[in-house]
Amino acid sequence: MAATSPARPPGAADPARAADAVVIGGGVIGLSIAWRAARRGLTVTVVDPAPGTGASHAAAGMLTPVSELQYGEEALLRLNMDSADRYPAFAAELEEASGLPSGYRACGTLAVALDADDRAVLKDLHAFQARLGLASEWLTSRECRRLEPMLSPQVAGGLHVDGDHQIDNRRLVAALLAALDRTPGVTLVRERAAELLVAGDRATGVRLADGRTLSAGQVVLAAGCRSDELPGLPPGVLPPIRPVKGEILRLRIPGAYAPFLSRNVRGVVKGGSMYLVPRADGELVVGATEHDLSDTEVTAGGVYELLRDAHELVPGITELPLVETYAGLRPGSPDNAPVVGASALDGLVVATGHYRHGVLLTPVTADAVAELLAEGTVPDVVRPWGPLRFTAPNTAHRPDGGTASSTASKEVSYA
Ligand code: GLY
Repeated sequence: MAATSPARPPGAADPARAADAVVIGGGVIGLSIAWRAARRGLTVTVVDPAPGTGASHAAAGMLTPVSELQYGEEALLRLNMDSADRYPAFAAELEEASGLPSGYRACGTLAVALDADDRAVLKDLHAFQARLGLASEWLTSRECRRLEPMLSPQVAGGLHVDGDHQIDNRRLVAALLAALDRTPGVTLVRERAAELLVAGDRATGVRLADGRTLSAGQVVLAAGCRSDELPGLPPGVLPPIRPVKGEILRLRIPGAYAPFLSRNVRGVVKGGSMYLVPRADGELVVGATEHDLSDTEVTAGGVYELLRDAHELVPGITELPLVETYAGLRPGSPDNAPVVGASALDGLVVATGHYRHGVLLTPVTADAVAELLAEGTVPDVVRPWGPLRFTAPNTAHRPDGGTASSTASKEVSYA
């Protein structure tokens, strides 16, 4: 990109850089929004000093809306299922556009219980899934081990969810970057966003840490757990987004041990939960801790906890080379659900708060935000999750209602 004139006053947008949209944040959410928007013919600039190195790098890539179902999240389930359904086509289109593998693997998921109390938890989950009409099958311990012979004989039973899959989140990032590189109208600026530019009551662009400014018709804020920290963001436009630290391990399955595991294994272990995600290329991802912390140190306690629980379920794991420990920060909104849609500030669209489901929710978020940018509308499935649901009682709505308009009011205050 050409350099900006130093004579330009601070905060002034540079018309030479004007794009239809500037996306702040180059994780899987921001990159995929840019890709989908550019495919609709928009010019898009993505701003991130190190794209794909935050939560998108740390994640495990589980696409498991049924096996990770939580009580009270029936409304979110609809969004999660919608996004999971989009994945096969999304991954195929991305592979075509990038020339790279996406790492999508339709492998299914087995959720197993370690002891009788853990089995009761999974039995409750099974009954809840059945009430919602979701496909899952209860298996005895022996049946679990028939599917996954490396499981401990102690395993007390489990749930087979044949429709819950995975994608290699790191391959997904690489493919999105390659696709953006090949897509006309996209610019990637490897710099930190220092300030949201606002003129009157409208977002007009972003000032970068190096002093340059980028103007745009619309600004998309997709900066994960740092989204609410962007200087220039008017108070109340975004709810608080908190970091939720997750530590995660990567091991390698040597050829002699392959396949080791053939599908995602979720474990309920003495009341806690964890997961093992085997890649087709021999990587085994084991995660994840969950703490309301904002640092990315990997602790001995975190590694111990994960290996201890993984060993309870799959004793042979201690034979595998441990190749990486990592920590990332999930973006958590006040109701732990995504915040996607038009904000109270004209020209500002937000896409954050995806918490534990950022990779899963990538296709639906990208498609919805691209539609919003290009057409000014959002699909019904996303409409309940706009930022205005956190506003004052006369404008608020709960996602379960599913009918509120994301442009209902521009008056914003938090209860
Ligand atoms: N999606 C799994 C996690 O956040 O740990």
